[in-house]
Amino acid sequence: MSARNVLVTGAGGFIGRHVCALLALGGYRVRGTGRRSTPAGGITGLKDWMPVGAVDANTDWSGVLEGMEVVVHLAGRAHVMHDRADDPLAEYRRVNLAGTENLARQAARLGVKRFVFMSSVKVHGESTGVARGFTENDAPNPGDAYALSKWEAEQALRRVSDESEMEIVVLRPPLVYGPGVGANFLRLMRVVDLGWPLPFAWIRNSRSLIYVGNLADAVRACLESESAAGRTYLVKDMDVSTPELIRMMAGALNRRARLFGVPPALLRGGAWLVLRPRMMQRLLDSLVIDDAHIRRELSWSPPVPVPEALARTALWFRQMYGRTS
Ligand SMILES: NC(=O)c1ccc[n+]([C@@H]2O[C@H](COP(=O)([O-])OP(=O)(O)OC[C@H]3O[C@@H](n4cnc5c(N)ncnc54)[C@H](OP(=O)(O)O)[C@@H]3O)[C@@H](O)[C@H]2O)c1
Repeated sequence: MSARNVLVTGAGGFIGRHVCALLALGGYRVRGTGRRSTPAGGITGLKDWMPVGAVDANTDWSGVLEGMEVVVHLAGRAHVMHDRADDPLAEYRRVNLAGTENLARQAARLGVKRFVFMSSVKVHGESTGVARGFTENDAPNPGDAYALSKWEAEQALRRVSDESEMEIVVLRPPLVYGPGVGANFLRLMRVVDLGWPLPFAWIRNSRSLIYVGNLADAVRACLESESAAGRTYLVKDMDVSTPELIRMMAGALNRRARLFGVPPALLRGGAWLVLRPRMMQRLLDSLVIDDAHIRRELSWSPPVPVPEALARTALWFRQMYGRTS
């Protein structure tokens, strides 16, 4: 595809900032959008910024979409740690399903050629075995309201595409890390940096992750490749066990990893007392992706090697939170 005018929704978010910067470097004219009237500080690569109100079934995107050839839709309800919504599923559906479908229908009507949607591996479920990862052909099995809203949005996008000329590309990444990361990855980095002893030495799991710069490059590939039209891709840049990840983080932070062994069954039981069980589940279970499709069909491979990706993340962490000793 030779499209140059790209709209990025959620441009002020963690992934959005990296996508805008990378696309601008690649010569795209990037319009960012979000709920703020002006872009948050530190966003680079924007040609312009057009605010939009709430993202739901009633959002009027006509002005924002004017002149756009491609949409990268990142805005979505995600990372909600303490959900205060009376009906969380309804809220996820309002933003992630109805908001996405409404944007896509308006985009198709206004002649947008391609729509790249950031879904999630969680569409497939919460865990796998260590050896065999999810493929795009595995049946969807969303395990929570967030994942269900993403899966329903994917299906709505297929309907929009069937009724129009607009091409849909869906990316399903696992946990994304890099400068600006929050939630559980940031929490783990903090405790590793503090040198706390962690009881994960005996964990033999495997989890797929992707560096945000590599995910942004996968978005670029989805914009540029003819073969991506209509496709869905799982994407990652590493598989790592929890103790390996802690050692790699510690190395990048120039700290010593302090790991000791506790039987996983005991950890699962104890998790109810000390940590949120869902966070513990992610530290103990496997969630692996098979990314053969995107590598083969788009000839894509992650441009940033994992050690470099972790070094960049650690540098950012030091600047934001780093201790002096
Ligand atoms: N980070 C991950 O590990 C990961 C993994 C898989 C998939 N994803 C998906 O990737 C996309 C970007 O995630 P991210 O990590 O960059 O998250 P983020 O930093 O929280 O950014 C999400 C963006 O969505 C917008 N948004 C959030 N809640 C909204 C709501 N209720 N109504 C309208 N807009 C809302 C925000 O826009 P404002 O700037 O207007 O607040 C923000 O820019 C999301 O769709 C997420 O589901 C993320």
